[in-house]
Amino acid sequence: MDLERQHVLQNYARYPLAVARGKGCYLYDLEGNRYLDFLSGIGVNALGHAHPRILRVIREQAGLLIHCSNLYYHQFQGPLAKRLAEMSGLERVFFCNTGTEAIEGALKMVHSHGRAIHPEKYEIVSLENSFHGRTMGALSITGQAKYRQDFEPLVPGVKFVPVNDVAALEAASSERTAGIVLEMIQGEGGINPLTQEFAAKARALADQHNALLVADETQCGVGRPGTYFAYQRSTPVILPDIVAAAKPIACGIPLGFIAANAKAAASIKLGGHGTTFGGGALACRVSLEFLDILDELLPAIQRVGGYFHVTLKELQRKCPLIQEVRGFGLMLGVELTVPGKQLVLDAMAEGLLLNCTHDTVLRFLPPYIVTEKEVDQAVKIVGKLLSKIKA
Ligand SMILES: Cc1ncc(COP(=O)(O)O)c(C=O)c1O
Repeated sequence: MDLERQHVLQNYARYPLAVARGKGCYLYDLEGNRYLDFLSGIGVNALGHAHPRILRVIREQAGLLIHCSNLYYHQFQGPLAKRLAEMSGLERVFFCNTGTEAIEGALKMVHSHGRAIHPEKYEIVSLENSFHGRTMGALSITGQAKYRQDFEPLVPGVKFVPVNDVAALEAASSERTAGIVLEMIQGEGGINPLTQEFAAKARALADQHNALLVADETQCGVGRPGTYFAYQRSTPVILPDIVAAAKPIACGIPLGFIAANAKAAASIKLGGHGTTFGGGALACRVSLEFLDILDELLPAIQRVGGYFHVTLKELQRKCPLIQEVRGFGLMLGVELTVPGKQLVLDAMAEGLLLNCTHDTVLRFLPPYIVTEKEVDQAVKIVGKLLSKIKA
């Protein structure tokens, strides 16, 4: 089949796979070959593929109303905002379409909040190794030179500190800091969880300097860590002022959001922010359905995620190429002592989809419906491929 690849912008390093359809935890290529999907569209297809309840609401809602713009109300945006406010512990919700857009909205809140206090209060503290998206604002706080270098100058006033370096975080923060932005578990940066001490320090510094603490939960949130959000894993919970999220929230229909407390929400005035598509009727209805299912699934995410972690640790004991197993729930990474790119291609040939981030970290983001049996299948394939690699 002619996929007309010559007309597509050459910005993605794609794998040699053309996907035709999906069902449950499996994808099928154009030739009908089956793949166990342990990446779920980089954390998007939370309920796998063709989930019957999601299909039903998409079909029904498509015949009623897909979109009507944010000039009008519809039945689903308000209830979804209420739901997300309850889940997050925050108050007001703004809907957009993607993770990077959610971050842009959060950055506007941070800047507006800072500038209302002092014209020089616009600095943002972010983390080395972080990933927050590809638009100019999100790129400005992304702590990886490879993504930024062709697009500078970016938004000024961003300071990067190493992950879990409490002293550096303290040194970078001052009364000029308007916001501190964190991924509680760095995703693209290699599945790096923040320590409780570091996250608590970020909260304390934000309070001390009247800055807003932003949790980017685009990849690590909305059920994947076994709680609604990754910041809820700790006791006591370190509540951010703003949560940004997207990926799984509408099971593949583009939808993102920011949830903000009253202080952060007050920084956006009438007309100060907006989007054409964000929070449309179809996306919001699908998301409400998903969140109902998520409540039933959270215990399974914790159970299967725990099993997956233990199974990978067992593999580590047998395999010297595995340096570390990291992550929580169904967001797990295996740090190898060798590059992982070829293993990803070999796994694909064996019928398993995963990816490799940061050169040496195998990243697993399976659908929330994954079972122990499927975990066994995936780990068996990875173990077999690792055993063939010379250290
Ligand atoms: C933590 C984080 N923030 C933001 C983004 C950007 O999201 P999107 O690709 O939907 O713009 C990503 C994407 O991987 C992400 O992992």
